Amino acid sequence: MSSERLVIFFGNIVHCSEQFKIHIIENGFVMVLENKIMEVNEESAFEEAKARLNITKHNNIEEIRLKKSQILIPGLIDTHIHAPQYPNSGLGYDKLLLEWLDTYTYKLEKKYKDQDFSKKVFDAVVRKTLDHGTTTACYFASLYSNSSLLLVDSVITHGQRALVGKINMTTLAPEDYIETPSESIINTKNFIKDVTSKKNDLVQPIITPRFALSVDMNLMKELGSIAKEQEVPIQTHISENVDEIKMVKEKYNMSYAETYDKADLLTTKTILAHGVYLSDDELKLLANRGTSIAHCPESNTCLKSGLCDVRRLQAAGVKVGLGTDVSGGPSASIIQAMKAALDVSIHIFFQKENYTPLNFEDVFYLATLGGAEALALENKIGNFEVGKDFDALIIDMDVENSSSDYLLECSPSEILQKFIYLGDDRNVTNVFVAGRRVK
Ligand code: GUN
Ligand code: ZN
Repeated sequence: MSSERLVIFFGNIVHCSEQFKIHIIENGFVMVLENKIMEVNEESAFEEAKARLNITKHNNIEEIRLKKSQILIPGLIDTHIHAPQYPNSGLGYDKLLLEWLDTYTYKLEKKYKDQDFSKKVFDAVVRKTLDHGTTTACYFASLYSNSSLLLVDSVITHGQRALVGKINMTTLAPEDYIETPSESIINTKNFIKDVTSKKNDLVQPIITPRFALSVDMNLMKELGSIAKEQEVPIQTHISENVDEIKMVKEKYNMSYAETYDKADLLTTKTILAHGVYLSDDELKLLANRGTSIAHCPESNTCLKSGLCDVRRLQAAGVKVGLGTDVSGGPSASIIQAMKAALDVSIHIFFQKENYTPLNFEDVFYLATLGGAEALALENKIGNFEVGKDFDALIIDMDVENSSSDYLLECSPSEILQKFIYLGDDRNVTNVFVAGRRVK
């Protein structure tokens, strides 16, 4: 008898079986052994699978049956969120990016020298994102290593999957809120070592130069070589705001994407937030490098940065995921980010001829498999493919005290539509990360 835990979910399953394609299994099942997906199929094929996989040898089997108003979907992926900015959610949208950073953001981020404050905020943001169904988050942590490690601890404690980056910032911020380039390198190497030594499968370090204006070419090149030697992913911002882009051009005398490319920062494991104003040549460069964009529609609207055209990025062959960009965006919920991505795309449709706006299936892809691809984690998460880790949500559109009423029975596709347009954390009834129930 095996004591490994086997959980079988029966019900309606919705996921993206491949790029851009939604796949619905009505009356299906997903079999999960410990953290991994063992089998996915229609319930009519269950007896055959049971015999073939010899599951009677397990003495630790749990069956979970979904209701008609529920669907099983992959966990949502936030490809760009600033954990320390969470207390500023909903505040400070009277300024544009560069002034917003100076007026509100650096002031708040400086407070993370305080370990108690760090722990309180990080526990809250990890809990809040999990409650809204974010099973994987790609975090900008703090400039301070100690504080950034506390975010790693919060993520481990609450059972979220995460990439966590200690910020590199040596210039264009208050004098008491920067590090020297040599400190920045040493601290980054130590941070990578400290995160790796926790030997937690769910958490990995990510190299995090804040943006091209926060660092210089030498430091970026050093970070590029650490990323290469240690095979660590990279995150930063690109082409978010017109004044920022102008300053980058003045500072480096080349395009924003070329600046990062010169430092070897554009890799298959690089995710760049925003990318609102990238030229065709820059998009070509990103596509050639296999570098991704984190589309942050709420932030692009609230900081009045611009309208990012996801269709154009995808048409150029650039991978795209969704980001909340808290607190550039007010909400820590990827459900909100899906709605905002739909809104922004419709606003682009008003301006462009022959433009097909994103639909609910497109934003669902961005929030799940697209996000996994953008973070180069598509071999591990993003959908219910056999062999992947089981990161999943049970969505229920018939819960009391939610934002909508369930008056007519809905198909699985309709439940997904209602969830995207009307849902919030109250509709996310259960959350599983690597097979472990965390909500
Ligand atoms: N560019 C550099 N830093 C930041 C930040 O904290 N938020 C956003 N939205 N853009 C940035
Ligand atoms: Zn950001």
